[in-house]
Amino acid sequence: METIDDPYLRHLFDGDSVFNVYNEEATNLSVGAPGPDLLQHCVEMIKKATDHRLDEEKKEGKYYLFQYGITAGLWECREELAKFLTRRYGDPVKREDLILTCGASHGLQLLLNTVISPNGIIFVEEVTYMIALDAFKQFPLMKIVTVPMKNDVVDLDAFEKIVVEEKENSNFVTNEQKIFWAMFYTIPTFHNPTGTTLPPESCKRLVEIARKSSIVITCDDVYNLLFYGDGFPPHRLFSYDNPTDSNYEGGNIVSNGSFSKIFSPALRFGWIECSSRIAKIFRSSGILRSGGAVNHYVSGVVTSLLQLSIQDNYLDKLIHIYKERLTVLCNILDHYLPQCSSYQRPEGGYFVWIHLPPGINGSEFIKWCQEKYKVTAIPGVQFSYAGKSHNFLRLSIGFHRKEIIRSAAKTLCEALLDYIRRKTDCK
Ligand SMILES: Cc1ncc(COP(=O)(O)O)c(C=O)c1O
Repeated sequence: METIDDPYLRHLFDGDSVFNVYNEEATNLSVGAPGPDLLQHCVEMIKKATDHRLDEEKKEGKYYLFQYGITAGLWECREELAKFLTRRYGDPVKREDLILTCGASHGLQLLLNTVISPNGIIFVEEVTYMIALDAFKQFPLMKIVTVPMKNDVVDLDAFEKIVVEEKENSNFVTNEQKIFWAMFYTIPTFHNPTGTTLPPESCKRLVEIARKSSIVITCDDVYNLLFYGDGFPPHRLFSYDNPTDSNYEGGNIVSNGSFSKIFSPALRFGWIECSSRIAKIFRSSGILRSGGAVNHYVSGVVTSLLQLSIQDNYLDKLIHIYKERLTVLCNILDHYLPQCSSYQRPEGGYFVWIHLPPGINGSEFIKWCQEKYKVTAIPGVQFSYAGKSHNFLRLSIGFHRKEIIRSAAKTLCEALLDYIRRKTDCK
């Protein structure tokens, strides 16, 4: 009988030599998650919020928090979340548009299971969040179609043509629940892996394309609040799908949000923001109704995190820390990145996307760099469904302190120059 290898691991990143962020011999710039210097703050924050919530429950005396919850998620939590998002986005967010989830990955699964044709199309950008690609492969009747990118954002001319072609060529099963024949999965703000943000004019055009072709656009909006500029972050795509527009089609954009990057991935707390026609379908979902909201207890604790301003204060702190880390990384790249490589400085999020010279294979370079220079990052091909984008690297500021990022980035640039000199004429 086949046996399953189940080694003793305390942590997801412990086993893998590429992803092992705790390995002190090599610095790993791969991981898109907060490190222990940030996570340590969760202890006191969670204690305070939990005490507060449990006291509130005792006062009320009904102990609803330990009962099944309502389908869309705890009312007070959605109310507090709507207020939080409104003040942090600088754009109105309505409680009734929110469905609570166990994070963006879960939100994605809910969308795929609920509103998309079982033999529908999933459009993805040439490079995208690599684990979302694995999630899509679990829906084998759906076809994954890659869309080219230009200047590290989706190429809308190409997208428009591809959508028309795919719609003509297929025969989709749709009904009153599975209302969309196709979904475009994207990360419009502080993209993973490219770090870019879709400009406002492109956002407007993308919404027009979605309406005209009757597709849904799922935006993984997990980095939007990590904005390092002044004022409010870039508007999320959802806000461009305005119900007062004459050609509004009932809502074609979904914002899939999460507390994983702004608090802790382990909380497994997130939300879907969508129009009423989509929210209605979720509210009648048998799976959500049977479970009585997906994370009712955690939503109670999150309500207190929001009511006590703990989340707001922590987000301010995170933004300050991440902004410093990104500045340190980009300053090193500005100084030391070999001339024939390039990058665009992101305005927020976790990631910097390095363009390597054409003949340089990112996977081969990283293998060599990890062994010889003890620094690692993710090669571009890992984000590509089509197995392209070989001459790119993704660096993350999520996990390590700025001092470590500074020295690892400098070493990586030295390694790259050394490698490029061996392979090309570039200086
Ligand atoms: C674009 C994107 N979406 C989703 C996730 C996972 O989010 P969650 O922890 O909320 O499931 C990540 C994590 O790296 C991500 O980068």
